[in-house]
Amino acid sequence: MRNSNRQWILRKRPIGDIAPGDLELVDSPIPVPGPGEILIRTVYLSLDPTNRIWMSDMEQYMPPVNIGDVMRGGTIGIVEQSNNPDFKPGDVVNGIAGWQEYVVAPAAQKLNPALPLPAYMSVLGATGATAYFGLLDLGKPQPGETVVVSAAAGAVGSIVGQIAKLKGCRVVGLAGSDEKCRHLVKDFGFDACINYKKEDIRSALKRECPKGIDVDFENAGGEILDAVMELINLKARIVLCGMISQYNAVEPPRGPALTNILMKRARIEGFIIIDYFPRFAEFFAEMGKWVAEGKIKYDTTIVKGIENALPSLDMLFTGKNTGKLLIEVSAP
Ligand SMILES: NC(=O)c1ccc[n+]([C@@H]2O[C@H](COP(=O)([O-])OP(=O)(O)OC[C@H]3O[C@@H](n4cnc5c(N)ncnc54)[C@H](OP(=O)(O)O)[C@@H]3O)[C@@H](O)[C@H]2O)c1
Repeated sequence: MRNSNRQWILRKRPIGDIAPGDLELVDSPIPVPGPGEILIRTVYLSLDPTNRIWMSDMEQYMPPVNIGDVMRGGTIGIVEQSNNPDFKPGDVVNGIAGWQEYVVAPAAQKLNPALPLPAYMSVLGATGATAYFGLLDLGKPQPGETVVVSAAAGAVGSIVGQIAKLKGCRVVGLAGSDEKCRHLVKDFGFDACINYKKEDIRSALKRECPKGIDVDFENAGGEILDAVMELINLKARIVLCGMISQYNAVEPPRGPALTNILMKRARIEGFIIIDYFPRFAEFFAEMGKWVAEGKIKYDTTIVKGIENALPSLDMLFTGKNTGKLLIEVSAP
């Protein structure tokens, strides 16, 4: 066990890209569990595009992180000490312990340690659930339809495309490198993938979606959403999951042309995965089966050390991650 608790503290709200000094890594004493409490050592910390949103005071679905507080983040950890009879040292738990090595809590959700822990933070966690509920509940993909997904080699996008394939759709992804595109087509069964950094997005989408677009699972926004809008079919569904192209923007972004939503009587709907927490058992049962049967695969990009949390967050914006980006804070 370490003799201090390294924590990332939010010092300033970033303007545009995160700058040195916006967050600070500090050494604090390891907290001591009181009566009925447990001490948890963080093993994995999830890095997510929404971390950038939580650092800002923009309109959002949870309160922003307060200046001076430990940065918020989803975690998996191991119980080190327990004063709660329901927990024992060695129990594996998950929660939102934040960007720090240790946390004290009254209790936490226990996990089955037999499954690979990174899977709980990706395909079998909030990431996989975002893909599952967003695509199936809002996108309602039908066999033979064309589904487009942006940030397709990322944590959510790579699962969305595979579920759409299981539902009998033509799946076209957009990703930021030829290597990611090859991987999605060859290993994850996508029908096509467009390198949006290299190709003209509009003409590439026209080529790969000859029958138009029935479902757009939108992770990027901006130029990609603009191009998608021109190709949507009658009664298309646009699942507004994320707008990563705009999280670091300083100026208010230019909006997409929404006229086609009207003309095509399409539905565009935002959703946040926390609304689906009561239905996680349903997700876990079906996704768990798909993963066990090898029908859904998942990638993880794992960086070691809490000190690398902030430097690694930018990988989500430059596209250096493939699949779920995690920090291994301590040895599993
Ligand atoms: N609604 C919800 O409840 C919910 C829950 C989880 C996540 N989300 C959203 O889902 C999206 C994906 O999140 P994730 O956790 O799965 O992250 P991720 O896709 O694993 O990582 C982000 C990826 O976005 C791509 N990207 C970055 N800037 C881009 C740009 N300007 N245009 C197009 N692509 C860009 C990068 O890949 P490339 O190499 O392809 O550029 C990067 O790898 C985000 O928008 C996030 O906010 C929403």
